[in-house]
Amino acid sequence: MWKTLVILPVRGRGGGLLSLPPGLAWPSFGRYSTSATDHSHTELARERSKTVTSFYNQPSIDAAAEKPSVRLTPTTMLYSGRSQDGSHILKSARYLHKELPVRIAHRVKGFRSLPFIIGCNPTILHVHELYIRAFQKLSEYPPITDHETEGQYCKLVRDLMDDHKDVVTLLAEGLRESRKHIQDEKVIRYFLDKTLTSRLGIRMLASHHLSLHEDKPDFVGIICTRLSPKKIIEKWVDFARRLCEHKYGNAPRVRINGHVAARFPFIPMPLDYILPELLKNAMRATMESHLDTPYNVPDIAITIANNDIDLIIRISDRGGGIPHDHLERVMDYHFTTAESSTQDPRMNTMFGNMVDMVNSGQSGPMHGFGFGLPTSRAYAEYLGGSLCIQSLQGIGTDVYLRLKHIDGKEESFRI
Ligand SMILES: Nc1ncnc2c1ncn2[C@@H]1O[C@H](COP(=O)(O)OP(=O)(O)OP(=O)(O)O)[C@@H](O)[C@H]1O
Ligand SMILES: [Mg+2]
Repeated sequence: MWKTLVILPVRGRGGGLLSLPPGLAWPSFGRYSTSATDHSHTELARERSKTVTSFYNQPSIDAAAEKPSVRLTPTTMLYSGRSQDGSHILKSARYLHKELPVRIAHRVKGFRSLPFIIGCNPTILHVHELYIRAFQKLSEYPPITDHETEGQYCKLVRDLMDDHKDVVTLLAEGLRESRKHIQDEKVIRYFLDKTLTSRLGIRMLASHHLSLHEDKPDFVGIICTRLSPKKIIEKWVDFARRLCEHKYGNAPRVRINGHVAARFPFIPMPLDYILPELLKNAMRATMESHLDTPYNVPDIAITIANNDIDLIIRISDRGGGIPHDHLERVMDYHFTTAESSTQDPRMNTMFGNMVDMVNSGQSGPMHGFGFGLPTSRAYAEYLGGSLCIQSLQGIGTDVYLRLKHIDGKEESFRI
C-alpha cells in the first residue's frame, strides 16, 4: 500500500491483492483447515452453519436497509464544520452514528442480491462479512453524549476504515474469479458502481468527521477552502512520473495550461483518486507507443478550465490513442490490456519484468486490473460530474474530467 494513499478510497496495491493480511484470515469459512479428523469436520460444519445463519438472520440489517440515506451537500458540511464550543463535532458524530449503519445496510443488501455463483465466491463472501461486521460494530455503539464517547467513536471509525482499506482490490479479485459465470455485464457494473461510490461517500463523510479535529490551514474537514487545481495536478504528476520512471526508465514531461492560477473551495479527495489513475494511463500509453525511443517521448498536456459551474481537466497524451475495437470496452470493469503489453519482448528486455517490479514493493503497478477508468467515471458521476474519452486513433487520447463546484451556480451534488 502506498503510504500517501492510506486514507484514500483506493485499492491496496502491489501484492495486497493475492494474499490476505494475517488479521483478515477468513475466520468463518474454515476452508483452509488442514486437519482431517472427525472432530475438526464437526467443528467445520458447526462453523459453516453459524456463518450461513448469520448471513440469513439479520433483522437489524433488514430494518436499517429500509431507511433512506441522508446525503449532505458540501455546503452543509462546510457551514456545520465550525463552532466555538466544539458542539459541531458532537453534532457531526451523531449524524454519522445514525447514517453509517443505514448506508452499510444498503450495501449488505447489494451483496445479498448478487447472483449465487458470485455471492458465494470466498473473496466476495469475505468482503460481505466485513460489511456485516462493520454494521454490527457501528449499530451497537451507544449514543454519543459527550466528547469522551465521541473520541472512542472516532477510534472505531478509524479502525473500520483501516479494516476496509483493501476492499476495492478484494472485490476486483473476487469478481475477476467469478464473473466468467455471468453473461450479463450489467450485473457486475451495477454492483460495482453502487458499492464503490457508496464506499467513496462513506469514506468522505468519515474522513470529514475525523479531520474536524485537526486544525489544518485552508481546510474545514475534508474541504479545502482555496484549492489550486494546478498544485494538486502537479502532486500527482510527480507521483505518476516516479512510478513510470521506475517501470520504463523514463517518463513523459507534463505541461499544464489554462486556468493555472485558479483557486476555489473544493474537495480534493476524489481528485486524489482520479488524477493518478488518468495520469498513469496517459504515461503508460506514451511509453508503450514509443518503445523504440524511450528517451525521446512526447509531452502530455493538461488543460485546466474553471467556470462558475464546474472544473474541467483535460489530459491529452500522444500515446497512439485507444483502438476502435477497444473503445467500447475501456469503461468496463476488468477490461485491461496489461497482459498483452507485458508480452512485448521489448518490455521485458528493456524495462525488466513487470511482476518483479510489482513484487519489489518499491511502488504500485502502473496498470493491472482494468479498474482505473470505470472507477474514476463512477466517482465523477457520483459527484455530479463526468469522465469522457476522445481517442484520436494513431495519435493519442484526450480524457475530459468534469467535477461540479461545491458552491457553484447549479444545484449541488450530495455526498
Ligand atoms: N490514455 C490512454 N491511451 C491508450 N489506451 C488507454 C488510455 N487509457 C486507458 N487505456 C486503455 O484502457 C484500458 C483500461 O484502462 P484502466 O485504467 O481502466 O485499466 P488499466 O490501466 O489496464 O488497469 P488499472 O487502471 O486497474 O491499474 C487500459 O488497459 C488501456 O488499454
Ligand atoms: Mg489504469
